[in-house]
Amino acid sequence: MSLNIKKQLNSQLSKDVLNVLELCSQTADENDFKIYLIGGIVRDLLLKRKSFDIDISVEGDAIKFCHLLAEKKYCKITQVQNDLKTAKAVFEHDVEIDFASTRQEFYPRRGHLPVVAKIGCSLEEDVYRRDFTINSLAMSLNKENYGDVIDYVGGVNDLNNKKLRVLHDNSFNEDPSRILRCLKFAARFNFHRDEHTKALQEKYINRQLHDDISWTRIKSELKQSFSLNMAKVYDMFLVNENYKLIYGERPDIKGLEIKTLIDKYQPEHVWLVYLATVLKNKNIIESFCFTRAEKKVFTDIEHLMNAHLSMMNSNYDIYKFFDKKSVESVLVYYLLTKRKEALIYLEKLYLIRVELNGDEIKELGITDGKQIGKILDELLKKKLAGNIVKKSDEIDFVKSKIK
Ligand code: CTP
Repeated sequence: MSLNIKKQLNSQLSKDVLNVLELCSQTADENDFKIYLIGGIVRDLLLKRKSFDIDISVEGDAIKFCHLLAEKKYCKITQVQNDLKTAKAVFEHDVEIDFASTRQEFYPRRGHLPVVAKIGCSLEEDVYRRDFTINSLAMSLNKENYGDVIDYVGGVNDLNNKKLRVLHDNSFNEDPSRILRCLKFAARFNFHRDEHTKALQEKYINRQLHDDISWTRIKSELKQSFSLNMAKVYDMFLVNENYKLIYGERPDIKGLEIKTLIDKYQPEHVWLVYLATVLKNKNIIESFCFTRAEKKVFTDIEHLMNAHLSMMNSNYDIYKFFDKKSVESVLVYYLLTKRKEALIYLEKLYLIRVELNGDEIKELGITDGKQIGKILDELLKKKLAGNIVKKSDEIDFVKSKIK
């Protein structure tokens, strides 16, 4: 007997979403389409977890199906991708759904993005292009079997046994970013790799082949995994030697150490703090196509690590050493070197600024540029030493210089 999750659906999804699914269901029946909820949402329904994305797989042409919905004014189509025959639509109450035509894919080059072999294939053929059995489940949305779970690969059993299992032996060769997806799901659900999947992963990671891979996918998965800010993601990343995937180096750092610092100092790019402790290879850093702000973290780290740091005797010395460096880079510098000055900087000095600017000092009567610079520096020293706190004190100090 097949598993039916209509009850879960009704209790876990909002009324608005259920109404939209009902509209899709009716339209599919009226027009002889077979449609399914697919992937993450079915997995999350079975796990009784909140799911964010709603993906519907259409056996046939998803764009055509979306147009039928739009003609009835049920939705607005917001995006169409003709080569893959996928579409995004927004329904009443901002319910957003991704529609994809069933498709078969193949990988012309190992590790690169797949190419579509066939669009509008059977659901069963579609399912086999996916990463893990738990992500390969579908749930029928047609009326005659609404809520029936369709499981071609033993995904329900794996969900019950908390197992992450690939669908075939070539899975990681085709898409190594799945190694990181595995990490993400293991941490998020507290699941484990099955023995064969683990062996395939180790084989991929330890092979000496350095072929190029899709860094966009790798970056996206690393970002998702490390943004979870979970100590165990990092620990598993090291223990499972996942860092070898990005030609990283294993540091002697525990995930909890990083998490504690992140919780305390709240850097903007949480994931980069984790990543930068292992990623040192310049060529690979280039491959990541980081944004300007992301790149700055790496250049700052490089500068800090290469700087000849003599004795830092005063707050002023510490301030000057770390001045204008990103919080992320100061944290990574601390993690790699354990120099306590990095934390003194973040804790006590990072936000200290001289409030007066050059123009204001000019207005007070000092016109020589060099002298203004000198005064600003002196003010900074005094502020860092705690001898000056308020702006009015800064003004008094400048006035005393004129006298
Ligand atoms: N998928 C895959 N290989 C990848 C990425 C995705 O096979 N490298 C498949 C999986 O079947 C997945 C589906 O595409 O369920 C949708 O991908 P995505 O939205 O990234 O995954 P979710 O499983 O929905 O994960 P999340 O809950 O993190 O959004």
